[in-house]
Amino acid sequence: MFLYSGNDLYCEGAALADVAARVGTPAYVYSTQTILDNFHAYDQAFGDIPHLVCYAVKANSSLALLALLARAGAGFDIVSGGELFRVLKAGGDASTVVFSGVGKTADEVDYALAQGIHAFNCESEGELALIDAIAARRGAQVGFAVRVNPDVDAATHPYISTGLSQHKFGIDIAAAAAIYARARQFRNLSAEGVSCHIGSQILDPKPIFEAVDKVLALAAELRAQGHPIRRLDLGGGLGVAYREGEHAPAIGDFVRGMDARLRDSGLRIEVEPGRSIVGPAGVLLTRVLYRKCNGSKEFVIVDAAMNDLLRPSLYRAHHEIVPVRKSSLPRITADVVGPVCETGDFLARDREMADAMPGDYLAVMTAGAYGFALSSNYNSRPRAVEALVEGATFRVIRTRETYADLIRGETK
Ligand code: LLP
Repeated sequence: MFLYSGNDLYCEGAALADVAARVGTPAYVYSTQTILDNFHAYDQAFGDIPHLVCYAVKANSSLALLALLARAGAGFDIVSGGELFRVLKAGGDASTVVFSGVGKTADEVDYALAQGIHAFNCESEGELALIDAIAARRGAQVGFAVRVNPDVDAATHPYISTGLSQHKFGIDIAAAAAIYARARQFRNLSAEGVSCHIGSQILDPKPIFEAVDKVLALAAELRAQGHPIRRLDLGGGLGVAYREGEHAPAIGDFVRGMDARLRDSGLRIEVEPGRSIVGPAGVLLTRVLYRKCNGSKEFVIVDAAMNDLLRPSLYRAHHEIVPVRKSSLPRITADVVGPVCETGDFLARDREMADAMPGDYLAVMTAGAYGFALSSNYNSRPRAVEALVEGATFRVIRTRETYADLIRGETK
């Protein structure tokens, strides 16, 4: 919900120039409405098929967003004890939490069992043995799914593709049945599910549908072998449009594409979307500090950097950068760079964009997912403020870090 009204860019009913002037920059700003619309698009498209939409906390773990989603009825997909802590602090219900991830520690498993999470998605036999041992000590019974690797190519950036056998994630689908069979020895575990996740920022859902078919076949085979499989966790991965003119499947169409395959399975369907819920719901506001020209190269130097938004540096990801207030200046081609001392510190390269002068605010679009969550204190830069808009009002949901925050826990 980011639209121009006249020359001014708005998030819902709030003018982003006003938000930036009030909270300073760099600032992440989110739209309540967009987050809720995207969550409900998933929830409603499943209709009467038993389902749980587990928001992937890693995409953006800020408490206010988790609280918003918890109130809307979301479950949560976590990959660490810290994420579980956040979910619980935000008012999320442990019984809706599924714990994914390739390297869960004993402490994390113990904490998750103590809180009574819904299930573990497991990625190795060693992990199954560990969870069983800890559950036995606690006298707990817990459901698990093996995350299988269906060996389909998600056709996305190599760093965020996970479904090929060369990747560290999951267990080869061909070996899964034998692992479920051996897992019968684990008295405190029950084989309630099968899970998979083949990658992220997937714009063509065909590989996901292909994976669904393979996982469904496995679930049927496991049930025939007497395993109490009742849930299918299909991961996240649906992409969003980062570039103007790029097309991302609508959430409803995507879910209905899966539904058609799953309707008669008798299984409860779980999904773990992150990016498609919060990505388009956030922008990073930044202020132009300087302009300079080295030879023929134009630079727009802004106050946000790779420590605030790492995606362009790490994945060469494209985020549209637009003026918060449109001007009539001619367009330019420039690199948009931050103050961090790295050549790789850029938000855009050779970008054709609206000309921008020192003091102007720019909005880096579609930054709600893996934006703040991947931010750091590199170069001892305090992390940005976050604000949540609802209608014409907004509130700060995380204050900008101070210098004192930077040294918290340190001694000299
Ligand atoms: N479930 C599992 C097991 C995952 O590994 C992930 C993402 C998700 C769900 C959520 O996927 P989504 O719906 O957000 O695509 N930092 C990268 C993305 C890394 C994704 C990691 N796993 C980026 O900025 O593009």
